[in-house]
Amino acid sequence: MITESQVLDALREVQDPELHKSLVELNMIRNIKIDEQAISLDVVLTIRGCPLKATIEEDVRKQLQALGFQEIDLHFGSMTDEERSALSAQLQQERQRQTAGGRKTSSHLMESGTEFIAIASGKGGVGKSTVTVNLGVALARLGKKVGIVDADIYGFSIPDMMGIEQRPTVIGDMVLPVKRLGVRVMSMAFFVEENAPVMWRGPMLGKMLVNFFDGVYWGDLDILLLDLPPGTGDVALDIHQMLPKSKEILVTTPHATAAFVAARAGAMALHTKHEILGVVENMSWYETRTGEREYPFGRGGGEKLAQELKTELLAQLPLGAPEQDLDDPDFAPAVYPADHPQAKYYDDLAKRMIEGI
Ligand SMILES: Nc1ncnc2c1ncn2[C@@H]1O[C@H](COP(=O)(O)OP(=O)(O)OP(=O)(O)O)[C@@H](O)[C@H]1O
Ligand SMILES: [Mg+2]
Repeated sequence: MITESQVLDALREVQDPELHKSLVELNMIRNIKIDEQAISLDVVLTIRGCPLKATIEEDVRKQLQALGFQEIDLHFGSMTDEERSALSAQLQQERQRQTAGGRKTSSHLMESGTEFIAIASGKGGVGKSTVTVNLGVALARLGKKVGIVDADIYGFSIPDMMGIEQRPTVIGDMVLPVKRLGVRVMSMAFFVEENAPVMWRGPMLGKMLVNFFDGVYWGDLDILLLDLPPGTGDVALDIHQMLPKSKEILVTTPHATAAFVAARAGAMALHTKHEILGVVENMSWYETRTGEREYPFGRGGGEKLAQELKTELLAQLPLGAPEQDLDDPDFAPAVYPADHPQAKYYDDLAKRMIEGI
């Protein structure tokens, strides 16, 4: 007969998708009853109506089936307030342990090995957010643990672009990032009602960004991408100050003026001693049906900017939008599926970045 400890071992493989810890370690598996080929057990979720219940259920069933159970009876419940507080305290403690010397300032992430990479540009609308989400997804496809901070506090766009409808889970005073297409995401969009404008200014803004690092349980991350608002404004400066270790990718169009403006953002990065990883030229060309390239926005901007900043041109990305496929649960308005020609460019860019950092 299969034993309870075999069951626990098998379920140790199943992680809570938000906390990235095993269900067993989180004490979410209880009341195991085994009768020959039949098993019943309780799965105690962190919150009621947990959006990830279906995923968890599927993963648990798979493990139990693999052990040979024919009859599987799962009961779903949720933690009591006390249990949730205890969990929240445990998570916080853990974050502080990760922080060198128990220092509470800024984020545990800054003390861990996480690479911060800000996506910046001098001008708006050149494709920073598009590059951020697709680069994030490409890195996740390569097996990296990736997070995205939508640092465009007023002009947040990442959740819409990635097709996120879910809101984050909150445990105690800790917010869990929303996971989509393998990427953990945090955005101001999660905290404002239906597209209401963000009225906060100045000090609140800096505070909000701090919350995105300190008040969020990111778990282990290899890379955290920050989608910056356009230009060299407050947020860009805040980021420079908060994350002195952050590296930067500059996005520009091939247009000479755009590259010139982007150079200002680059100059700021250099000034704040942020390392510039390189330049991404977006909207570089358009491929006609006969396979020829047309250059509606001119040519040479990316190369010129890279030269000016004494850095590399990491990628040139052609024009092209993902096709609408509303039946695909992984469809996201701005994310190129893995088999889209554009995805190849992002895959190459992601590999170059992994080499570079
Ligand atoms: N390579 C591309 N081909 C076609 N459309 C693109 C491409 N890159 C970006 N776009 C589109 O251009 C618009 C602007 O892109 P995006 O929002 O990523 O720019 P941004 O630099 O983040 O803008 P903002 O400065 O407003 O934050 C979007 O509608 C996006 O879908
Ligand atoms: Mg943007």
